[in-house]
Amino acid sequence: LQLEEKFLHPETREVNGILMAKMISDNWDKIWNFQAKPDDLLIATYAKAGTTWTQEIVDMIQNDGDVQKCQRANTFDRHPFIEWTLPPPLNSGLDLANKMPSPRTLKTHLPAQMLPPSFWKENSKIIYVARNAKDCLVSYYHFSRMNKMLPDPGTWEEYVETFKAGKVLWGSWYDHVKGWWDAKDQHRILYLFYEDMKEDPKREIEKILKFLEKDVSEEILNKIIYHTSFDVMKQNPMANYTTWPTSIMDHSISPFMRKGMPGDWKNYFTVAQNEEFDKDYQNKMAASTLTFRTEI
Ligand code: A3P
Repeated sequence: LQLEEKFLHPETREVNGILMAKMISDNWDKIWNFQAKPDDLLIATYAKAGTTWTQEIVDMIQNDGDVQKCQRANTFDRHPFIEWTLPPPLNSGLDLANKMPSPRTLKTHLPAQMLPPSFWKENSKIIYVARNAKDCLVSYYHFSRMNKMLPDPGTWEEYVETFKAGKVLWGSWYDHVKGWWDAKDQHRILYLFYEDMKEDPKREIEKILKFLEKDVSEEILNKIIYHTSFDVMKQNPMANYTTWPTSIMDHSISPFMRKGMPGDWKNYFTVAQNEEFDKDYQNKMAASTLTFRTEI
């Protein structure tokens, strides 16, 4: 329990104006100096945008649809979460990444401007997944309730304001999606949308295949689509985060695999909250060519 106390509702601190767990900010020099390799694949997202889903798709592709190989370990251990820092003897993302043989698949929630520069220098491939703000907010709210490694979200009303102000871990959703949108014009980045993946998983998985320069048979493609569907992943202990102790993630409060549906925000936003949210959204997003669908 003593060990857990160190990271349950951890202290937070800003790094370059972005809110981080203090354990990450204390480790920032090491994270910033992380050495990426040309054959690394990085899955980058804002929290709750469909990271785990994309990780499972990528793992299935890399293992030619071999479900057993994809069950060799839970998501967290298969793809090191580079900035995630835990007290020893637990494995931090950097330790896992440094121990992992190449080619590595890594995960990050860092905003583009805070990505360790070696990723750009080595021209590593990056898949970025974006999800509309309202569904991200709802998902992040419930995740913050069940995951004791995140700050307490407070009430729903409070959380809506916290999210709009970007005072959540990894900072502003608005800046994150825009920053990576701009970065994609200069780097090897496949920019995907959660809503598109939900609408037509086959089409989006084919984009990933092409980006990874991989080819699979129709049979394997169908297997990947099936194995990475919400209902199947929800039952997969290696993909649904149920191997973590309930003192850290309490799925009885809200399961990690919660709903997986675009448009769930309508069940949470009041009409007034929605109007205010939209107004603020226009201000923050007006200058960008980036557009989202809030339902499909
Ligand atoms: P909800 O809370 O809206 O259900 P991340 O992996 O980035 O933390 O994102 C988690 C969100 O992705 C959760 O959203 C989760 O249910 C959803 N998700 C995970 N696997 C999915 C899948 N196979 N299909 C659709 N959504 C999925």
